[in-house]
Amino acid sequence: MAVEIVVGAQWGDEGKGKIIDLLSEKADIVARYQGGANAGHTVVIEDQKYILHLIPSGILNENTICVIGNGVVIDPIALTEEIEFLRSKDIDVEGRLFLSHRAHLIMPYHKLLDQAKEEKDAGDKIGTTGRGIGPAYVDKVNRMGIRIVDLHDRPTFESKLRRNIAEKNEILQKIYGTEGLDVEQIISEYLEFDQKVDPYIKDVSVYLNEALTAGKKILLEGAQGTLLDIDFGTYPFVTSSNPTSGGACSGVGIGPTCIDAVLGVIKAYTTRVGMGPFPTEFSDDKGANLRELGDEFGATTGRPRRCGWFDAVIANFAVQVNGIDSFALTKLDVLDTLEEILICVAYKFEGKTITTFPGEIRILENCEPVYETFPGWQEPTSHIRNYDDLPGNAKEYISAIEQLTDTRVAIISVGSGREQTIIVN
Ligand code: GDP
Ligand code: IMO
Ligand code: MG
Repeated sequence: MAVEIVVGAQWGDEGKGKIIDLLSEKADIVARYQGGANAGHTVVIEDQKYILHLIPSGILNENTICVIGNGVVIDPIALTEEIEFLRSKDIDVEGRLFLSHRAHLIMPYHKLLDQAKEEKDAGDKIGTTGRGIGPAYVDKVNRMGIRIVDLHDRPTFESKLRRNIAEKNEILQKIYGTEGLDVEQIISEYLEFDQKVDPYIKDVSVYLNEALTAGKKILLEGAQGTLLDIDFGTYPFVTSSNPTSGGACSGVGIGPTCIDAVLGVIKAYTTRVGMGPFPTEFSDDKGANLRELGDEFGATTGRPRRCGWFDAVIANFAVQVNGIDSFALTKLDVLDTLEEILICVAYKFEGKTITTFPGEIRILENCEPVYETFPGWQEPTSHIRNYDDLPGNAKEYISAIEQLTDTRVAIISVGSGREQTIIVN
């Protein structure tokens, strides 16, 4: 397949990093299409753990070219740190990493505004990663963002920045009561960044279209997940971009007619970080147990992830809004020891049964999940590499997910390692 989109089907952290790393072995190019350094994509190769925030997870395959599309908001500090981190692991990104000249930059005031707003909203906060994502997309949509391309035109860059900082300083000081920022220092920091990233800048849309003409294989890497999507997620408890597959074309600059497949990455249970409704969330010590078993702590912020049962209402919604044609089902091994495993098949709200994912937060917060119960397999699966060798009850569980979503599970992940994967025929 020439172009495949890989999208998170839940609230993020489904294991996209591992799956992208795996698939990138057969891809020429991996392109990130939205989000920023709020993402934390973990790849484990021979006991070495890599957490990537901005750079596509394909970077660990030395033959793969990685690009960051115009839809991503780039934090120069996070990017420089990530490049240095990879260098320290003998992974050189020069000539293998390109940034869209149309991508917007995260500025220091975006991070300050993100954090100050969360602090001020206290009881009603979103639980953001504090990486400045929301405020950066606000400026983009408000047509006052600063793009990579602006770094090439110093007078414009400086005047835009001065105007923006003057406005943000007023907001920071008058609304949030925090200190303002020093314009000169920011200008010099960003011009230093410009020199560092100059070799990486490209017209990514032109590059990808030429690659397509040349018959190259491209993976489009989504960050976050369907339920964090600004349009389809549990608004307002979402991120500020479109992680759903629709965001992929506008986030890199290729047309929808180029897309051949959409792979949904979905965990064998559900997690979420930050605030917002979560119908199948555990209310008892099952949550702590699964968090320990699955090592469910945020890859970016270290926050404990909230845990719950697999939700087929969500999975179906993800299939629909992304056009998912197959799933990569991850973390099956985390369920190995459980006696019984539940899948939510519908919600009950005010006496009615709901099978389509509601847009209303009020319903999501107050509905009762309707569960089907499956017997656990209670034996280890991490060593298994062939579908046929999986315990019968594990196959039943996978097959139930396929039937409930009318979507085939093409990849099963049974551990964080690259090799701990079952490709289903
Ligand atoms: P992403 O944001 O979607 O890339 O996911 P994260 O990297 O934030 O979180 C997934 C976590 O689960 C990482 O620590 C992975 O190393 C780990 N992981 C991925 N697949 C599996 C799996 O099949 N089994 C287990 N036990 N861990 C996995
Ligand atoms: P990956 O790519 C899980 C969540 C935050 C918060 C909401 C808004 O690793 O799956 P933001 O900082 O984006 O404005 O925060 O979105 N969030 C994620 N949750 N995985 C992620 O990325 C996330 N990126 C943002 O916790 O609830
Ligand atoms: Mg993550």
